[in-house]
Amino acid sequence: FDAVEVIAAKRDRHELTDPQIDWVVDAYTRGIVADEQMSALAMAILLNGMNRREISRWTHAMIASGERMDFSSLSWTTSDKHSTGGVGDKITLPLAPLVAACGVAVPQLSGRGLGHTGGTLDKLEAIPGWRASLTNEEMMAQLEDIGAVICAAGAGLAPADKKLYALRDVTGTVEAIPLIASSIMSKKIAEGTGSLVLDVKAGSGAFMKDVDQARELAETMVALGNDAGVTTVALLTDMSTPLGLTAGNACEVAEAVDVLAGGGPADVVELTVALAREMLAAAGKDDRDPADVLASGAAMDVWKRMIRAQGGDPDAPLPVAKETHVVTAPTSGTLTRLDAMGVGVAAWRLGAGRSRPGEQVQAAAGVVMHAKPGDAVTAGQPLLTLHTDTPERFDRAVAALDGVYDIGDGLYGAGTEGGKAS
Ligand code: URA
Repeated sequence: FDAVEVIAAKRDRHELTDPQIDWVVDAYTRGIVADEQMSALAMAILLNGMNRREISRWTHAMIASGERMDFSSLSWTTSDKHSTGGVGDKITLPLAPLVAACGVAVPQLSGRGLGHTGGTLDKLEAIPGWRASLTNEEMMAQLEDIGAVICAAGAGLAPADKKLYALRDVTGTVEAIPLIASSIMSKKIAEGTGSLVLDVKAGSGAFMKDVDQARELAETMVALGNDAGVTTVALLTDMSTPLGLTAGNACEVAEAVDVLAGGGPADVVELTVALAREMLAAAGKDDRDPADVLASGAAMDVWKRMIRAQGGDPDAPLPVAKETHVVTAPTSGTLTRLDAMGVGVAAWRLGAGRSRPGEQVQAAAGVVMHAKPGDAVTAGQPLLTLHTDTPERFDRAVAALDGVYDIGDGLYGAGTEGGKAS
């Protein structure tokens, strides 16, 4: 085969054959197909799409590029969750220990922040001492002992995706359903989880802005998982406004701990419990109601053991930002809109995310929200508090918040129109 031939086939809207797909994924992983060639192919796929057969073959070629893990020697059944990414999405933090406390082990291989979306590993690294990298043996031992592990995927898992993902990030080729679906599912199938619940986000803060695209992504991933023998279900959830009241790293850990302690924002609790129910059902072990288990404190016990097992101190104070800046409400009324993308970009610019690959994130950077859509606000009250160690970042963060909220004088959700702040 020849890379130019494969690129030209997709450019000209032809279906790629199985041998073409196997060859190009393998040759790219081994450095025979160059980055610029794979970039061109990724753009052709973004523009011209792939059918289900092509997506499935591409996924399996990425799985075959590396090792497969196997949890069948554990005494637990396993279930995993994957979110397609959002703002304030700290759900994995309370969810993994909650599901473990209900009797199903959670092998959660997580990632770092990408653009305006946060990454679970970046959040957990705000906890003093906690480490993301475990060997496969450490991961298996922790899963058997505690039932929950959140760690970085090892270098051996779907290396084709690692390379391709980094390339897509810098070539404007992230937002393609075939590429997102195969990227996520190659890692989850190679990881070897018994069942999988997908939290597919739709809205301004998600990669899929509209719900029809999100549904197509969900259906594609569910088919890939089930075809590969992983019981897979998906929830479509809203990402037009941030989840909970925090977007950042340490502030999100604090909110997750509030949830484990029986408090926390209602939307975070609700989604955590809903996903836990789906994971337990997918694993065939739904004899306990996760809401009761959360209230019992058992999930908090698992959380502390899980954090300690990875070197972290769950009782240590979390880092606090050197500087804060408060954005106040200009008028009184009802907050009718708070845009996820704007808040995510602000948190990113404050230092919670990266602007270059490999950059260090600030543990304490982020945005704390004092009201969510539907809440009444009074002129002059704090609406958002911005946190950073580098106050020169405030200007660009505040600029990202321009026009991201509306305050109306009508009743939110009661059929009245929420106007602009006036
Ligand atoms: N998350 C992934 O792992 N891959 C994508 O392509 C998008 C989100």
